[in-house]
Amino acid sequence: MKRVITYGTFDLFHYGHVNILRRAKEYGDYLIVAISTDEFNWNEKHKKCYFTYEQRKQLVESVRYVDLVIPEENWDQKITDVQEYHVDTFVMGDDWEGKFDFLKDYCEVVYLPRTPEISTTQIKQELKK
Ligand code: CTP
Repeated sequence: MKRVITYGTFDLFHYGHVNILRRAKEYGDYLIVAISTDEFNWNEKHKKCYFTYEQRKQLVESVRYVDLVIPEENWDQKITDVQEYHVDTFVMGDDWEGKFDFLKDYCEVVYLPRTPEISTTQIKQELKK
């Protein structure tokens, strides 16, 4: 069985998120999604989520391509996640192009083109207008 992992915040779940999860799953048979916890988002990414970790987790778990959701609690857990979960392929959107190439020592690393014209930040800004 080929295992794939991807990481993200997935706040205000949108079709760009569905697209990346669908395409990530195409690289294997079992998709693990690591979702940033509220603490990690606030302390490290300086982002406040609209939905809590538990709410974002429920949404992502309900997607048919997703087999397992785990928490992302720090920047350094990726190597241990890849080893612990026997991951074959690491997938991220290409806004992160090159940033996780250090994982190539442990698994295949793939950056997929982002879905154009949608992001959580953009949704928040548009609704504010
Ligand atoms: N993603 C994507 N296409 C989009 C938006 C997100 O492929 N239009 C991917 C990202 O590249 C990442 C994953 O979805 O691999 C989770 O991204 P996340 O940062 O949670 O979503 P964004 O909408 O980019 O949120 P923000 O605007 O807060 O950065």
